[in-house]
Amino acid sequence: MATGPTSPSRRGDDVARAAATIRAGGVVAFPTETVYGLGADAAVGHAVARVFDIKGRPRAHPLIVHLAAGAELDGWARDIPDAARRLAAAAWPGPLTIVLARGPRVADAAVGGADTVALRVPAHVVAQALLAMLGGKVGIAAPSANRFGAVSPTTADHVAADLGDDVDYLLDGGACEVGVESTIVDLSRGRPVLLRPGGMPREAIEAIVGALDAPDAAAPAAPGTLASHYAPRAEVWAVEPDDVADRARELAATGARVAVLAPRALLATRHMLPAVVTLALPDDDAGMARELYAALRDLDGRGVDVIVAALPPAAGLGEAVGDRLRRAGGSRPR
Ligand code: TXA
Ligand code: MG
Repeated sequence: MATGPTSPSRRGDDVARAAATIRAGGVVAFPTETVYGLGADAAVGHAVARVFDIKGRPRAHPLIVHLAAGAELDGWARDIPDAARRLAAAAWPGPLTIVLARGPRVADAAVGGADTVALRVPAHVVAQALLAMLGGKVGIAAPSANRFGAVSPTTADHVAADLGDDVDYLLDGGACEVGVESTIVDLSRGRPVLLRPGGMPREAIEAIVGALDAPDAAAPAAPGTLASHYAPRAEVWAVEPDDVADRARELAATGARVAVLAPRALLATRHMLPAVVTLALPDDDAGMARELYAALRDLDGRGVDVIVAALPPAAGLGEAVGDRLRRAGGSRPR
């Protein structure tokens, strides 16, 4: 997995160098407010192909194209419904991705041959500076900057641990503020569909475009629908807060090295948990989202076998946190 430390010459805060690398067809890891992305020029097929290779991602899994501003929408998408324009105006820059009918600028490779494209304007100042330096017309196709199936990186150290020197340049912009990936809404097929809960709460989106449908059979296959997505090495059990202690006890009784991941307030009421490690998350939904992935990586680093994680209420960013914890649990009962 880890390919070793990133050499100092390939890591830094030099936005101009990152822009030059992308302009030359290279691959740059860069910070966004959600997670770090692994980016290349979205109009250049061979550059995008390297992103898939580095990440180890199947070519048919389309990437999100990151734009400098909502004003660029028309070159990258077509048949843009009014709801998409309203949502873009309200949410961008920010942690929301909109799926639309694909426009002429995007390379085939970036969308895995699909007729739609996922678009987002990131809010992180460093991502904004990078896109601005590229002149505003360039889109950056970028998945999260981790190996396929692993937990997304929320710091440059996470990226370096996963990808090492495989990236041409790692642009370090500190820890990501949102901490979970963007919310993905499909507006390419009429009624808005929530493909992936994420950094923009459902409630805020529904206030603009009305109720979000769940994906049906005709929805594009994608959004981390693989059970193995977002998974640390340790087995994850995502359970209701009231069940954390019992589940930890049962698992410890089997001889497993158990970790408990739960909000601070919950841990304060549960003394003597039969866990080798307990890790506290903030009690608020935004804090939980911000610290979730670093916590999962931290627990993996301690070599635990099982992580028993408390599910948050599904409101606000809690929906995304719960979604990621359940996916990390893969096929286990929950
Ligand atoms: O916050 C984020 O969204 C981060 C940062 C870097 O922007 N990116 C990210 O990318 O999470 P990735 O590739 O790890 O996840 C993007 C998801 C994938 O599940 C992909 O299948 C889905 O978006 N996707 C991309 N294009 C799509 C399309 N045209 N239709 C449906 N789903 C699409
Ligand atoms: Mg990802």
